[in-house]
Amino acid sequence: MEIVELIALASKFNVESRLGSSPPKDESDNPNKPPTFTYRELATATRNFREESFIGEGGFGLVYKGKLESTGQVVAVKKLNHSGLQGDPEFLVEVLMLTLMRHPNLVTLFGYCAEGNQRLLVYEYMPLGSLEDHLHDIPPDKEPLDWNTRMMIAAGAAKGLEFLHHQAQPPVIYRDLKSANILLGEGFHPKLSDFGLAKFGPSGDKSHVSTRVMGTQGYCAPEYASSGKLTIKSDIYSFGVVLLELITGRRALDDSHGRDRQIVEWARPILKDRTRFVQLADPLLRGQFSESVFKKAVDVAILCLQEKANNRPSMQDVVAALNYLVSRKYDPNKANKADIKGTDDHSPSGSTISNTGSPIGTTMLNTGLDRDQAVAEARMWGETWREKQRQSSHDSPESPDGL
Ligand SMILES: Nc1ncnc2c1ncn2[C@@H]1O[C@H](COP(=O)(O)OP(=O)(O)OP(=O)(O)O)[C@@H](O)[C@H]1O
Ligand SMILES: [Mg+2]
Repeated sequence: MEIVELIALASKFNVESRLGSSPPKDESDNPNKPPTFTYRELATATRNFREESFIGEGGFGLVYKGKLESTGQVVAVKKLNHSGLQGDPEFLVEVLMLTLMRHPNLVTLFGYCAEGNQRLLVYEYMPLGSLEDHLHDIPPDKEPLDWNTRMMIAAGAAKGLEFLHHQAQPPVIYRDLKSANILLGEGFHPKLSDFGLAKFGPSGDKSHVSTRVMGTQGYCAPEYASSGKLTIKSDIYSFGVVLLELITGRRALDDSHGRDRQIVEWARPILKDRTRFVQLADPLLRGQFSESVFKKAVDVAILCLQEKANNRPSMQDVVAALNYLVSRKYDPNKANKADIKGTDDHSPSGSTISNTGSPIGTTMLNTGLDRDQAVAEARMWGETWREKQRQSSHDSPESPDGL
């Protein structure tokens, strides 16, 4: 398919008129023109892809910060590697489709440039960089993320993923969810970047197989690694890994001691014993969190990391649970009160699971917070958990938690 045909196809989707007000405007545009940029425009924006504009490099190519001359808008320009992408019509169709995805927790893809053999993507610029930058190897002058911010980031990323899985039509499998792809805006507002693009990476070259085709090491679901079978449940496993990174401050794949060690492998013995959960805590948190909320966050990670894909929760359940955890803000001045109150440790992991399950029905909860808890428990720690437990023990009685 020629680019001209693609543009006609994109026009059918009425791309630009559905983009809202944020993308750059060109007065000469007709309303159906897809969001394309000329190479010249982007070269000018990034001062000819100068070193000072360089932000970083990923599996797709180099990323530059730029300022569009026409609108003054600051953008991130990703200059794609040439291999594997040239003349790929599906790529352009997909990119056009992705420009339609709008959600507060997705980085906006403003448009693209496909001139000659150049392929560039133009994104909204995210000023605070990636979550990875804020979790690992942080310089001494930078404050580590506190517990409340970590939960807010987890919930926001979960909402972005929920949108891709359950609201986007057709649904989008992220394929490469990791802390490097969770970008942060003002106030650490999280947005997922590069969604839906991982399938377009080069596939012939072995060195790329581990990152582009099989997802990034350390984040990849076991069934995807072993059989290449990819479903939205693979994304949920990767989300569990990101949650563990937020909880522990450890890298998904730690290669610092001469051998690769996956975070899940490291955490596994602790995850089996609820009384040891706090040992997982990132030392940089300095104990500034509520233990019961912390344990619930670990519960969510455990569910997402279930070995069997079907035993993992849906992103909707995860969002409900994390929204509740966000609502349980840690306040150092009131530390431990919630724990003492004893209302929030009905979590099912390990030996403390209550036989009666969720407290809903036994206590009619009045406040908004209690209602949030009720919803979260019903979805995550109540029905979902018990159902998964049943399935798990039915599938593999010797390993009921599937970890
Ligand atoms: N929209 C953006 N705004 C600000 N910085 C960005 C933006 N997109 C990417 N970056 C930064 O550019 C760098 C490279 O990003 P890139 O997405 O190419 O690689 P990656 O996320 O490490 O891996 P992958 O290729 O799997 O996405 C990262 O450090 C990221 O923080
Ligand atoms: Mg990325």
